[in-house]
Amino acid sequence: MSTSEKPRGTATRLVHDDYVAPSPFGGLNVGVHHASTIAWPTVAQMRARDWKHDTGYSYGLHGTPTTYTLAHRIAALEGGMHCLLVPSGLAAIVLVDFALLQTGDRLLLPDNVYNPSRDLGDTVLAGLGIETVFYDPMDPASLEAAIDERTKLIWLETPGSVTMEMPDIPALVAIAKKHGVLTAIDNTWAAGLLFRPFNHGIDIVMHALTKYPSGGSDVLMGSVTTRDDDLHQRLKAVEMKMGYGIGGDDAYLMLRGLATMEMRLDRSGENGLALARWMSARPEISAVLHPAFPDCPGHEFWKRDFSGSAGLFSVIVDESIEEAQVDAMIDALELFSIGFSWGGVHSLAVPYRIALPGGPARDAAPWPHRGVLVRFYAGTEDAVDLIDDLQQAFVKLGR
Ligand SMILES: Cc1ncc(COP(=O)(O)O)c(C=O)c1O
Repeated sequence: MSTSEKPRGTATRLVHDDYVAPSPFGGLNVGVHHASTIAWPTVAQMRARDWKHDTGYSYGLHGTPTTYTLAHRIAALEGGMHCLLVPSGLAAIVLVDFALLQTGDRLLLPDNVYNPSRDLGDTVLAGLGIETVFYDPMDPASLEAAIDERTKLIWLETPGSVTMEMPDIPALVAIAKKHGVLTAIDNTWAAGLLFRPFNHGIDIVMHALTKYPSGGSDVLMGSVTTRDDDLHQRLKAVEMKMGYGIGGDDAYLMLRGLATMEMRLDRSGENGLALARWMSARPEISAVLHPAFPDCPGHEFWKRDFSGSAGLFSVIVDESIEEAQVDAMIDALELFSIGFSWGGVHSLAVPYRIALPGGPARDAAPWPHRGVLVRFYAGTEDAVDLIDDLQQAFVKLGR
């Protein structure tokens, strides 16, 4: 019943009612809150709103019960204190760069960095007068040589995107600390479970939640996690100015995925090892770039610092085999999809032109291989079926 004496019209009653849902509600999962508008009971409460913390609500873009819950779980996963959620992994990289860099600053990126991060530096940041310099992540001296008084941010990545080199993170962080430069790491491969960046003194942990946390190949999201209040507020202030936010449905899907991530990662990691072992015995493959394999650059750092491996790795096809034959092999695969975004239940294969014209630039670390690189992602299917599939497709490589 309305509190007003006069009966209200249908259109009004379709918007307003006096029903108060009983609480508590015993569902096991947090509710999916959809909101742009946040309303306050009084003007005084509206004026007293605090948009800097997750202790209240100010605008749908800045947080709802669903998104705050997810942010807390990601912060816990990474071993951090604060977490910001943004619409993609790349958006998280952009946020860190925009929040911490200004005209005249220098940014240092590992030479094997996720390529859109390199592009961002070479184009948008360059246009803003921010210089991007690339260092060889496998050579700490190369990092030290690239640091100058303008250097404000160093990115690290474990392992390198596509080429899979595993850097000595403690050695790189020690150099950054010696020069008082902030460090950010792309911790996506380790899924927040296999490596603990904060324990090694990293300042900011970025994670493309699109991959293992989602697990469904159907949600895009990124996170920026910190342990330091001031740094978090610096990042948050820019996040708000850039208009970044995430929707309730995506946050809910992410929470669903997160709950089973460890089991999926275990399975995918084991499948990845089985596929990589099979490939290492094949004459068509000249190198297996998997951090758990002794001949992968930085294997000793993986062994020292990581508790396991993800299902993403690369191989180099013997240089006598033409690119067209490699393409035919990938086309012949029945259980592996040809796609970039990994971390789901489906296995993937995708060729990269690292050593070929059109491949990504390498400024600081020359690429030692000549054959075509194929990146594989092992999903959660039965390993025996995946290997049977590889077996029939490898015929196309003509050996
Ligand atoms: C290592 C790594 N970092 C960041 C990203 C970017 O994530 P998103 O696809 O959510 O933008 C990806 C995506 O492929 C990635 O593999």
